[in-house]
Amino acid sequence: MSTIIRGGTIVTASDTFAADLLIEGEQVAAIGKGLQGDTVLDATGAYIIPGGIDVHTHLDMPFGGTCSSDDFFTGHRAAAFGGTTMHIDFSIQPKGATLRETIELWHARARGNSVIDYGFHVAITDLTDQVLQEMPNCIQYGVPSMKLFMAYKGVLQVDDTTLFRAMRQAAQHQLLIMVHAENGDAIDLLTKEAVAAGNLAPKYHALTRPPELEAEATARAIRLAEVAGAPLYVVHLTNSGALEAVRLARARGGAGQIFAETCANYFFFTWHDLDREGFEGAKWVCSPPFREQADQEALWQGVADNSLQVVSTDHCPFWFEGGRDGRIAGKELGRASFAQIPNGCPGIEERMMLLFTHGVRTGKITLNRWVELTSTNPAKLFGCYPRKGVIAPGADADLVIWDPTLRRKLSAATQYQNLDYTLYEGWEMVGAPRSVLSRGRLLVHDGQWHGEAGSGQFVHRRPFSL
Ligand code: URP
Ligand code: ZN
Ligand code: ZN
Repeated sequence: MSTIIRGGTIVTASDTFAADLLIEGEQVAAIGKGLQGDTVLDATGAYIIPGGIDVHTHLDMPFGGTCSSDDFFTGHRAAAFGGTTMHIDFSIQPKGATLRETIELWHARARGNSVIDYGFHVAITDLTDQVLQEMPNCIQYGVPSMKLFMAYKGVLQVDDTTLFRAMRQAAQHQLLIMVHAENGDAIDLLTKEAVAAGNLAPKYHALTRPPELEAEATARAIRLAEVAGAPLYVVHLTNSGALEAVRLARARGGAGQIFAETCANYFFFTWHDLDREGFEGAKWVCSPPFREQADQEALWQGVADNSLQVVSTDHCPFWFEGGRDGRIAGKELGRASFAQIPNGCPGIEERMMLLFTHGVRTGKITLNRWVELTSTNPAKLFGCYPRKGVIAPGADADLVIWDPTLRRKLSAATQYQNLDYTLYEGWEMVGAPRSVLSRGRLLVHDGQWHGEAGSGQFVHRRPFSL
């Protein structure tokens, strides 16, 4: 069974050219002119891009006294409708569990539900001597990247000794350490003081997590990684101070070792969104929080000049009115105090459209850079390139036929994310997927769903190397 995608313009991280594309089975077989196949997909007037890869998601994750609202079916379907064909989710180590047990828990969540391909990181919360010894086995598990949290005191946070030990082990075994860089001790104190003073509204979530505490933790993690000789990937970077720390590190020779992502939502919101009418601001509660407009501009500059190499989502949706209709609880858990609002925002469906509409169309990033930030760099950094992240013979046929003229109005009523709100209600996108294929299988075509639960596969990723 073969498919031809005809009449489109192929866009990769490095090239833009008109050509037809032949898919045989699950892979791209040829690129050229006059190719023949069993079925034809028309790409006239459209771009053909490698499917988006979102390396920072939290599907079906127990967190903040509840669970994120998208599972491995609804999250995958939403991703596909937005042009994303692979993601890497965080498996979070329960205290006392081995890393294998942790990853197995997440395999069980995905099994039978998945529609796009997926990988896992492991988030280490309990680094016993045994777990330290087990870290190199993560290569065999196909999970060569691990996140440590420098925040969420008493829940997920690790101390500097733990972080440094993990980094030294990673340096020996081609593992990539990822950090949530905020100073959790200082945040914990500021949070307790705000609560004691009766400052309980959602905006205090942002005001108790100032940008300096992210910049400080980012610089600290970088310095620890440099001493350990470990590669480091800073997740969800939000502000100019933290970006400066990454820039300085890369300038002093860490360009091959120090990497950072931001997430799409950080380009569009500020902490003032947490101060919306009533409890509305809870929808925008995530960590690190949204910052200032000047930080948004710094982030656009950062993705343009390669100080930031990846744009992911940190998709971690919680219902706004979860308790209603028998759904799992959500943001309303924090009506009495911001400190109880589950941290996290949606975005897996919107990322590619937002960056196309507000990045490519405005000239902030080029078409090729858009592909690089959302697909090629994620694949390279996380050990699945050139199987993923590129259009070339032999690569998986994870492809999006992207119509640059298609208009889509974002709305909670029409989205596929399993959620009663979107941060982007009423925003008009210009440019959206016409067709989405995962390993040659059509998932989305002209707004219709063709996917089948259980058809996505786990991607066993290679150890870190560039
Ligand atoms: O608020 C967030 N980001 N929730 C998900 C967990 C994390 O820190 O990535
Ligand atoms: Zn985090
Ligand atoms: Zn996250």
